[in-house]
Amino acid sequence: MATIGARVEGQPQSLSAVHPVVRWVNEVAALTTPDAVYWCDGSEAENSRLCQLLVDAGTFIRLNPDLRPNSFLARSDPSDVARVEDRTFICSEKEEDAGPTNNWRDPAEMRETLNGLFRGSMRGRTMYVIPFSMGPVGSPIGRLGIEITDSPYVVVNMRIMTRMGESALAEIVKKGDFVPAIHSVGKPLAPGEKDVVWPCDPDTKYIVHYPETREIWSFGSGYGGNALLGKKCYALRIASVIARDEGWLAEHMLIIKVTAPDGRVKHMAGAFPSACGKTNLAMLEPTIPGWKVETIGDDICWMKFGDDGRLHAINPEAGFFGVLPGTSMSTNANAIRTLYANCIYTNCALTDDGDVWWEGLTKVPPAHLIDWTGKDWTPGGDKLAAHANARFTAPAAQDPAISPDWEDPAGVPIDAIMFGGRRSTTVPLVRESFDWEHGVFLGSIMSSEMTAAAVGTIGKLRFDPFAMLPFCGYNMADYWGHWLQIGRKAGAVLPRIYLVNWFRKNAEGKFMWPGFGDNSRVIEWIFGRCSGEDDAVATPIGLLPAPGALDTGGLAISDADLSALLSVDPAAWVDEAAAIEEHYARFGSKLPTALAARLERMKQGLASA
Ligand code: GTP
Ligand code: SPV
Ligand code: MN
Repeated sequence: MATIGARVEGQPQSLSAVHPVVRWVNEVAALTTPDAVYWCDGSEAENSRLCQLLVDAGTFIRLNPDLRPNSFLARSDPSDVARVEDRTFICSEKEEDAGPTNNWRDPAEMRETLNGLFRGSMRGRTMYVIPFSMGPVGSPIGRLGIEITDSPYVVVNMRIMTRMGESALAEIVKKGDFVPAIHSVGKPLAPGEKDVVWPCDPDTKYIVHYPETREIWSFGSGYGGNALLGKKCYALRIASVIARDEGWLAEHMLIIKVTAPDGRVKHMAGAFPSACGKTNLAMLEPTIPGWKVETIGDDICWMKFGDDGRLHAINPEAGFFGVLPGTSMSTNANAIRTLYANCIYTNCALTDDGDVWWEGLTKVPPAHLIDWTGKDWTPGGDKLAAHANARFTAPAAQDPAISPDWEDPAGVPIDAIMFGGRRSTTVPLVRESFDWEHGVFLGSIMSSEMTAAAVGTIGKLRFDPFAMLPFCGYNMADYWGHWLQIGRKAGAVLPRIYLVNWFRKNAEGKFMWPGFGDNSRVIEWIFGRCSGEDDAVATPIGLLPAPGALDTGGLAISDADLSALLSVDPAAWVDEAAAIEEHYARFGSKLPTALAARLERMKQGLASA
């Protein structure tokens, strides 16, 4: 057994020294050599202590308690502001199991590299042990994990984002099954060395997944999905592999409950790439009278078949890690209301009265701010006050639109699935798939302009199938195969599938569609379609709303824009088809033949249109 020199605190007495969990924790401590090992219980008192510790270290700034009670601002190192997709690895035994869209490394080699990096990486720090549950503790769809980290910032974020602490640990001990996730900011401290405000390794980052052994190792970053390992690393990359093996779905989707004016209810899930509108849609306030949208989840959706043959979905998270820029009372009032207290803000601006601000919060910015880099800021310059990927961490229960069913351990039955990218050209506002297989085709050909959520070129168009390009833990073509397989399950009562685009722009570069609350008009059409009410017309690319079927009453939208939003431009689609062909070619013989056939059929349809 590994012997550790570190002081140990909070380890439950019920766990003996030979318990597998304790042995694993001690092994990690022996490798990383922290000064102390602290087992988190998830309590309020523990959280207060850690927040104060972060304030004392300068990592947190306590916001004005009269304006934002129990809330904190953190400013990251400028080198550590978003997910790093080029440093994210899927280390399957075989390279083809990672596929052409993932970075693959041989697992044995990677283990050697990481052993070197993690050796002594927590020196001078406390190693925190965070037991957590993805999904309500005990849910048949939920699962368990333990994150080990040397970042107290990660601990307090994980406490909001997951069910963390004592009850999760009890469940882990009971079930004996959990995903181990090891995180280090990669900045050991020499004796007497003063810590920096945001420790990380500016040069070396590794976000590593071993899909076969279901392990996560993350080194060098303290930010978001790189460090809060329950989220993208577990709930998507590892869970997608588990879901493939067990016949369910782990997806980058919001989940909503939609209630029609007559009281009928439907549940919808929606996959949109990062910073493309999931949180907004999840908290939407309909502009059309009598409709109600309630939040179940805003980022991740786990779906399993129930005895009724339907897909039942849970939100495995307990909080929102949401985009701040652009969030305001006019775009997402429920998000603003969610942020009234008990939140962590990362990389937005600080006002003179100790509140937070970001671009888009108010039309007129305050006369003076401290920007996300800690410098004085006044309006009119060319620098952003908040980083474009500034985020809030907020308890989901604080969302005034949260559905009473959001913690139902059995999940909610899904009636419709939406896919949607950020496309300024070509892609219409909404279309329905002809059937499940065609819906999988639509998901597989999704493309989107890149955003600030990941380090990269903002605005660059790329294929982002199912909004899972950065999050699928195995070969994307096999993932499509898995979706096709789900559709063939005997007795399945499948959701209908839609592809939407809120982001089409006109010649002046303005969004054609008002978006946000007015997306309820599209939701209404989808709801009607699922109830066999609203009409559609068949086109080569799918079923579009029949003339008049989409309620556009009262919208200030030109006839030209509306017609562009609701029609198919054959010439543009011929180009699109050529790009899809190239996209598919990357997968070689792994591409499911059903999808290749769907592309052929679309091309033939366009040729005779
Ligand atoms: P992740 O948390 O990164 O997975 O992103 P998300 O999909 O939850 O994105 P979010 O809802 O936070 O949206 C991010 C950006 O999209 C913000 O700048 C929003 O203002 C913008 N946005 C969201 N919905 C709409 C819409 O309907 N129309 C337009 N034009 N912009 C939108
Ligand atoms: C995303 O990028 O899709 C996010 C934010 O939801 S992060 O948790 O950083 O991945
Ligand atoms: Mn996301």
